[in-house]
Amino acid sequence: MASRGGAFVLLVLCSLPVLLAPQAAGATMKPLVPAMFVFGDSLVDVGNNNHLRKCNDSCKANHRPYGVDYPSHSPTGRFSNGYNMADQLAQLLGFAESPPPLLSLTNAARLGRLKSTCGINFASGGSGLLPTTGGASVCGGEVVSMAEQVGNFTRLVRTWERQKRRRQAAEAARLVSRSLVFISVGSNDLFEYSDFFADPRNRNASRNDAAFLQGLVAFYAAYVKDLYAAGATKFSVVSPSLVGCCPSQRKVARDSHDLDELGCLRAANNLSGQLYLMIGSMLRNLSQELPGMKYSLGDAIGMARWIFAHARRPPNKFSSIGRPCCGSGDFGETGCSSNVELCQNRSSFFFWDRFHPTEAVSALTSIQLFCDNGTFVHPINVQQLVASSRP
Ligand SMILES: *[C@@H]1O[C@H](CO)[C@@H](O)[C@H](O)[C@H]1NC(C)=O
Ligand SMILES: *[C@@H]1O[C@H](CO)[C@@H](O)[C@H](O)[C@H]1NC(C)=O
Ligand SMILES: *[C@@H]1O[C@H](CO)[C@@H](O)[C@H](O)[C@H]1NC(C)=O
Ligand SMILES: *[C@@H]1O[C@H](CO)[C@@H](O)[C@H](O)[C@H]1NC(C)=O
Ligand SMILES: *[C@@H]1O[C@H](CO)[C@@H](O)[C@H](O)[C@H]1NC(C)=O
Ligand SMILES: *[C@@H]1O[C@H](CO)[C@@H](O)[C@H](O)[C@H]1NC(C)=O
Ligand SMILES: *[C@@H]1O[C@H](CO)[C@@H](O)[C@H](O)[C@H]1NC(C)=O
Repeated sequence: MASRGGAFVLLVLCSLPVLLAPQAAGATMKPLVPAMFVFGDSLVDVGNNNHLRKCNDSCKANHRPYGVDYPSHSPTGRFSNGYNMADQLAQLLGFAESPPPLLSLTNAARLGRLKSTCGINFASGGSGLLPTTGGASVCGGEVVSMAEQVGNFTRLVRTWERQKRRRQAAEAARLVSRSLVFISVGSNDLFEYSDFFADPRNRNASRNDAAFLQGLVAFYAAYVKDLYAAGATKFSVVSPSLVGCCPSQRKVARDSHDLDELGCLRAANNLSGQLYLMIGSMLRNLSQELPGMKYSLGDAIGMARWIFAHARRPPNKFSSIGRPCCGSGDFGETGCSSNVELCQNRSSFFFWDRFHPTEAVSALTSIQLFCDNGTFVHPINVQQLVASSRP
């Protein structure tokens, strides 16, 4: 399904020969980077949350029908019907799928992964830029915050370098610097902030969007600097999408009559739009400040708008962009579980559950990140970012 999803956008936005090569060659191709390190939230978590005892079902995808289209047809912890964006970008780079979740590995395996193959996925569903995002009131008590994810990576790199002799330590640094860091984070901070002010009980609370967003971007910059200090130089960053268009927020929009032209929650989409511009500015500044730091920023908002606008234009066939495939009610309010019926055709839905896109949609996003011509990915795409990284 991922490759069928791929087939349509590339005709429209990506250059054909570039794109077909890695997909056709699949896992037999030598990967374009020595390793990939993934950070962020449920759009890229491949099972870390399964290992968190206190994290409850709101922030776990280890139950059916999650994973129904994954090769094993069973749940893995991915918040999708099949592969997610981390897998799909990894596939375009020549890996079989995302590197494994940190918490599924033993200490020895963690170091091994760092040294030789593939990389590690540190992402945790529910987490955000703020250390408090995904806290007890949302996920029941435990997610791995972005600050902790970055700390987990930098500690691992330091441990590895300490174990090595001097010459090999230089080799280690080179490996990390040629690897791809992939980050998808920020949506949950926006959800929680937006939900707080949408709650009538908080109608009188004072609101300062600019200060809130500046706080998020300051945290973001600090994480990128820490990763760079540990040796990373190639950053693929995907911005939070139109969070106001998730079915969960469409419901809030209808109930509160704060609809934008897409039928989504205006206030939340406005935050996404502002944050995207600020992340762009932050990365531009860092790339000037930090020697050798390179980045590729994906505009997930532009991509989502493009799909919404061309949902039914052949060869696209998205019959539903507002209602999730899994979850009943107009907005999937019941949540996604084995108690609800799935939609008929999962690849024709934009949303899988109340918060997450289907595999078909995340495939489109990954393809754009990889080979977009400058429409939705700036200043270079991932393929250009990793040129010269070949092991
Ligand atoms: C990228 O491709 C699209 C679709 O073919 C085209 O409309 C657009 O002008 C191209 N943009 C650039 C910067 O080349
Ligand atoms: C998870 O915990 C939060 C906070 O206690 C609660 O609001 C939510 O309903 C819980 N979710 C599930 C599925 O148990
Ligand atoms: C990741 O970091 C957190 C916070 O510092 C720590 O509690 C946890 O043990 C670390 N996990 C791993 C696997 O290193
Ligand atoms: C908000 O402030 C108004 C005017 O001061 C007051 O009447 C109302 O009860 C307050 N609402 C809440 C939810 O605190
Ligand atoms: C957000 O809303 C403000 C105030 O209405 C407006 O000035 C700004 O242009 C909007 N920004 C985006 C990115 O939508
Ligand atoms: C980037 O640098 C410019 C110029 O110094 C500054 O105005 C802007 O606020 C910076 N952006 C961020 C997100 O810090
Ligand atoms: C399901 O949807 C996809 C894409 O929207 C379409 O190509 C396919 O023909 C549909 N399958 C069925 C059985 O309707």
